Amino acid sequence: VDASPDALAALTRRAAEAGVADRVRATQGDADALAGLVEPATVDLVLCHSVLEVVDEPEPVISALVTALRPGGAASVLVAGRAAAVFGRAMNGQLDAAAALAADPHGTTGRRDTLRRRYDAADASALLTAAGLAVEEIHGVRVLADLLPAAVADGQPAALVELERALAARPPYRDLAAQLHLFARRPA
Ligand SMILES: C[S@@+](CC[C@H](N)C(=O)[O-])C[C@H]1O[C@@H](n2cnc3c(N)ncnc32)[C@H](O)[C@@H]1O
Repeated sequence: VDASPDALAALTRRAAEAGVADRVRATQGDADALAGLVEPATVDLVLCHSVLEVVDEPEPVISALVTALRPGGAASVLVAGRAAAVFGRAMNGQLDAAAALAADPHGTTGRRDTLRRRYDAADASALLTAAGLAVEEIHGVRVLADLLPAAVADGQPAALVELERALAARPPYRDLAAQLHLFARRPA
């Protein structure tokens, strides 16, 4: 489900290229209308990746997602991390933007930011919990990868993956990741 016909066209094209077109249905709609697009309480797993930071309001999206899930069904939610954005701006020399991002209640640099919000692990977890989901795991995605010089990341890819795996679930490293991945369930 996506609001953008272009995004859905890309999905359909890629599904065909991967030979799974018969298993993928692209539906145009707002994320908070998901509950009306599928039978309530029937869905095994919802992936909501890189969406909560761009929608007008995240709460109705999570609420619709919970309504769609069957009891015991799972949600995989990926959101932009706030701390990584502060570090990234600062390391690029954009100290004003880093300060704005750290101070802004939504973790943005202001109106010209491409995202409407960024999350700390606690905020993202609280959002899902408030909607009735039980958060089972939180992982950081790209704890270090975006901070390293390209020569290091490209030169030692296997070592980087190994280090990322070692750090992904461990605060405080996890909480510095570019994205936070939350795995949650609707209680059975
Ligand atoms: C960064 S992309 C992520 C796409 C995909 N989930 C992924 O992980 O590759 C964000 C997507 O959210 C879509 N989007 C933005 N607002 C939306 C809304 N209110 N309801 C549904 N989709 C929305 C955009 O069209 C865009 O395709």
